[in-house]
Amino acid sequence: MAEAPVLSERPSQARVLRRAWPYLRPHRRAVAAALVLSAAATLAMTFLPPVVGWAVDRVEQRDGPGLYAVAGVFVVLVVARMILLRSAELWLARAGERVVSSLRELAVARLATAPLRFLEAQRSGDLLRRTTSEIADLSSFVRSDLPDLLSVAGYLVFTTAVLLVYSWQLTLVLVLVFLPLAALTMRWFQRGAKEAFAAEAAEKATVAATYAEGVGAQELLAAYGAESQWSQRFRRDSDRLRKAAVWSEFTVLRASGVTLAQGVADAVILLLGGWLVIGGGMPVSTVAVFVLAMRQLFESVNQLSGLVGQLQTSRVGLARLLDLLDGTARADRTPKAAAAPERGALHATGLRYSYVDGVPALVDVSCEFPPGSRAALVGPTGSGKTTLAKLLAGLYLPDEGEVRYAGIPLPDLPPDELRRRIMLIPQRVHVVSGTLRENLRLIPSTPDDDRIDRALAELGLREWVASLPRGLDTPLTPAGDALSAGERQLIGLIRAALVDPAVLILDEATADVDPVTAERIEAALDRLREDRSLIVIAHRKATIDRLPYAVRLEAGRTAELGRL
Ligand SMILES: Nc1ncnc2c1ncn2[C@@H]1O[C@H](COP(=O)(O)OP(=O)(O)OP(=O)(O)O)[C@@H](O)[C@H]1O
Ligand SMILES: [Mg+2]
Repeated sequence: MAEAPVLSERPSQARVLRRAWPYLRPHRRAVAAALVLSAAATLAMTFLPPVVGWAVDRVEQRDGPGLYAVAGVFVVLVVARMILLRSAELWLARAGERVVSSLRELAVARLATAPLRFLEAQRSGDLLRRTTSEIADLSSFVRSDLPDLLSVAGYLVFTTAVLLVYSWQLTLVLVLVFLPLAALTMRWFQRGAKEAFAAEAAEKATVAATYAEGVGAQELLAAYGAESQWSQRFRRDSDRLRKAAVWSEFTVLRASGVTLAQGVADAVILLLGGWLVIGGGMPVSTVAVFVLAMRQLFESVNQLSGLVGQLQTSRVGLARLLDLLDGTARADRTPKAAAAPERGALHATGLRYSYVDGVPALVDVSCEFPPGSRAALVGPTGSGKTTLAKLLAGLYLPDEGEVRYAGIPLPDLPPDELRRRIMLIPQRVHVVSGTLRENLRLIPSTPDDDRIDRALAELGLREWVASLPRGLDTPLTPAGDALSAGERQLIGLIRAALVDPAVLILDEATADVDPVTAERIEAALDRLREDRSLIVIAHRKATIDRLPYAVRLEAGRTAELGRL
């Protein structure tokens, strides 16, 4: 249980940036360069209203050459800003894409080494979303929204400084009229947005999970005529997503209250500035600069309200990704032993394991398999045979007790060492799309044709491969239509002969093993090297009879050990 925390649908968004910092740190130089360029571009833009102010002064003084000089400065500023802005965007895109791709690779690498129970406990669509589309959202945020966000934040700071320099009195009025109104609306928006965006992301994940599950279960749904029930469930999830998305859009509308606050502030400043000019207390150029700079400020605020929505979506995505990284971080434990001997005994003591709290699937199971032992693991369906096999192979960690190979506890072995020494052929052998040869080569040492041929000879399976439509080149699909469940186990056996593990555990396929294939499996098992331990979860009497030793499980307990 302990190794299977289900990832939260709506993980905490607290301190996401601080939690993301360790992943950003290696890229801090590029990020800093982008920030400096962006600030410089913004600064160039901020100087435009004061330049217009100088132009107004030159016009009032009828100074033609001065006006040309000011126009020249204006052009230089505009060009400089464009160059700086584009370079900042490029740097930011490069830095951002590097951060995002390193996060993606890290997430996939962590998933690859995550405990099997952890992966089984998650909804498959959810993991897919977190590692693909949510990372893509993050990347598009970095590429397009983050540059805007930075320049908007820059404008806000620099333009406020310009306003203060030109007239602190007008700035004070602006602040008193505009800020309280704007702050109230933004707060109202933020409160709604946090909830609404998190809900939308969670519903999207549910729809993806339901869809993925439906595709996986198509055969089952068709066989039981349950398609309409399933599509009802999908429609219900999809409807919930639609409602959540509409709710998010409504929340975004709240932010437009800021535009109203701007209108009011505009009118107040124009009136006040006009009176001051008429009364002779202020030059026209000051009012011109003030109004221009104020418009720039408002534009920034408008852009900001649009960007805050994006920022919120990205925050949720980042929080969900960090949740995944945190949830899988435990897989990084460092093994204590460097290597294990070629052959060794497998020893389990006091194993206890529960999938669900309080409902143990295994209770106090102990058994020993010396090198070269041949054992059957038997028991009624649901008695815990497959669970025990996964614990013996180190795929699940027991809640209590331990499994040792050659005296070394399994968690202390490096993962690749563990996989080389103990191998489990599951009830349903997974096949990936590609040829039979490519499937057989999916083991650490990537064997060549010669080694494959020797393994086939060892197991007496040359004839079987030759009987396939195109031998080793026979194309296979994950759905596995080309091979029966038993034939897929033959693939598992060939892989085992290639890896040559010390302990081979075969969870025999119960269903649809035709007599010819069953004969092939049994013959192959007989021919396995004698110093290798073989544990077969056997359902058929013919298999059990061939094995001299048996462990019998009943309701998760070892009921009998010994010779049959
Ligand atoms: N992923 C899971 N989540 C929750 N419970 C599970 C899970 N897998 C198995 N169980 C439960 O654990 C118990 C043991 O299951 P297990 O698959 O080990 O039995 P088995 O002996 O291999 O059965 P069979 O002969 O049908 O293959 C059963 O009660 C089963 O319902
Ligand atoms: Mg089983």
